[in-house]
Amino acid sequence: MRISPRSIEEVREAANIVEVASEFTALRRSGARFTGLCPYPDHSEKTPSFSVNPDRGFYYCFGCQKGGDAIKLVSELKNLSFVEAVTYLAERSGVELEMEGQSPEETRAARQKNLRRRASYKALAAAAAYYHKYLLKSSSGSAAEARDYLKNRGMELSTIEEFRVGYAPPRGSSDLVGTARRASPELDWRAFEEAGLLSPRGGERFSGRISFPISDRRGRIVGFGARALGDAVPKYLNSPETELFNKRDLLYGLPQVAEGIRKGNAALVVEGYTDVLMLYQAGIENAVATLGTATTPAHLRTLSGYADKIYLLFDPDAAGEKAIERAAATASELKVDLRVLRLPQDPADWLLEHPPEEFAGMLEGAMPVLEYSIRRITEQTRGADAVTRSRAVPEAQSLINGIKDPVLHEEAIRLATEALGVDRETLRAGREDRPDTSRSPSAARSSGRRMERSGPSREPLRHAGRQVLALILTRPDLTAEPLRSGVHAVPLPEPLVLEREDFAEEDEAALFSILRDNAGGDLGATLADERARPLMDLISALSAEGEKLYPSAALVREVWIRLRVLRLERDKRDTADYDRKEQLHSEVQLFQKALRAVAS
Ligand code: UTP
Ligand code: MN
Repeated sequence: MRISPRSIEEVREAANIVEVASEFTALRRSGARFTGLCPYPDHSEKTPSFSVNPDRGFYYCFGCQKGGDAIKLVSELKNLSFVEAVTYLAERSGVELEMEGQSPEETRAARQKNLRRRASYKALAAAAAYYHKYLLKSSSGSAAEARDYLKNRGMELSTIEEFRVGYAPPRGSSDLVGTARRASPELDWRAFEEAGLLSPRGGERFSGRISFPISDRRGRIVGFGARALGDAVPKYLNSPETELFNKRDLLYGLPQVAEGIRKGNAALVVEGYTDVLMLYQAGIENAVATLGTATTPAHLRTLSGYADKIYLLFDPDAAGEKAIERAAATASELKVDLRVLRLPQDPADWLLEHPPEEFAGMLEGAMPVLEYSIRRITEQTRGADAVTRSRAVPEAQSLINGIKDPVLHEEAIRLATEALGVDRETLRAGREDRPDTSRSPSAARSSGRRMERSGPSREPLRHAGRQVLALILTRPDLTAEPLRSGVHAVPLPEPLVLEREDFAEEDEAALFSILRDNAGGDLGATLADERARPLMDLISALSAEGEKLYPSAALVREVWIRLRVLRLERDKRDTADYDRKEQLHSEVQLFQKALRAVAS
């Protein structure tokens, strides 16, 4: 069973490489590209050499030479097979895969799964609309009570509308499924069940609660948080974990505030849904909430795609200190400025008593996460004798060792020596020196092999070959014809058509064959060629090189001929046959003459 090349092409086009790569590293726009720290785990770097080209759908790391498309990135970083990676991306972007050689049952099963997902989305959207409408329009007593509740909390209609807040009618009086099915008859009970909208005992899960629809980054509703009107326990009921609803990844309010976060280059992470809403209403349009979990590395990674600065705001009795330590490590990895602030009150409640302008002043009290963490460790030993204080040393050490950034690392040591009253040596002791993973033995081995194969005298040939390939990849308009029919130059008896043997390296020769076979087709067709799969690193490297060239038809002819000259010179050097050497010598001269003719 294989995924059809057409589907692979479709997935590649639909996958947004910037969005996909942002899940693994923080990217910044730089001209037409995006750059960031290389997300490959065996390449830890401090200055960004990872570059993403949204137009071509490619990434390339100038440091470790890894590159490719969204499919390759996902498969390598998530350890998925090619098929798994394509399937994953297809699901993310809603592409329906077409299979070749799939049994009819398998085709049916795959189509079924896709249909079920769509049905889930549809059921969730229907529920949000139904609850929202019930809250705003129903004349029932409970709906009036819900409206009063929100009004008493200061929530305005515009906020309720923007976030599609709703109210699920009380048990017995709700007819979500019936209503939804009148509009979309294809929805069955199972769709509502699979979307997490029903309670295990039958009936609707969120009955009698205020509903807060939770969306994924693309704005599709994937679940709900639902608050009891009174003191019922639990106060909030959330959707169960489903294929679509994953609390560790989702952030409440993100689609609504993404733009605000980007504009202000800062994100606030709060704890409650209502806090997001009330902040938004107060004009602070960059807050998201976690869904009853601590902030996870996945959350930070998501937010770092929008802003350089992230504030974690939490209430004084919140636990989650361990989570903050993990967040600190992730933040230093992502190079985001993470700050934490303990608030005297939930922002929603605070805003009822203070003017919103004062909020900014309060934010200024946020502490860089490093300082915060070290203070917390040392707080526990404040006023204690030296012996007790020294017990905090291992904890401080583990925190410090988790910080890879050398500047922050120094800063952490400074803070800890001050706070704990120990000297630097004590803190450093026990610190294992991490091996520099960017020079792992395997990396050294493979680069060694490359040197051997190419040898110094072959370098110009190799370089010329790469230049040809880079041009073909980036300028099919200029190269399709020369690829097919060759280039003309004055003293040549016939046009020069390049061939596989003109390339010094096997990989490059293989890529040339693929490109020649697809001459005139677009990049998508080339990439869908199965033979191209093992060549992704090379393709994206060359495509990055190609962007730096300023090609013209004349340049194309020149590099074409130069490659042939270099290849003939190599052949001449390599042959032991004197007659052949002689013949090659005259060919070299002929092509050199042609080269001079086109270069002038
Ligand atoms: P809070 O108890 O602070 O709730 O929990 P809140 O959002 O401030 O609620 P209000 O202001 O009383 O309406 C913070 C978050 O923890 C999760 C929810 O995501 C909530 O927004 N939570 C809380 C639950 O999931 N279940 C609960 O029972 C309570
Ligand atoms: Mn609250």
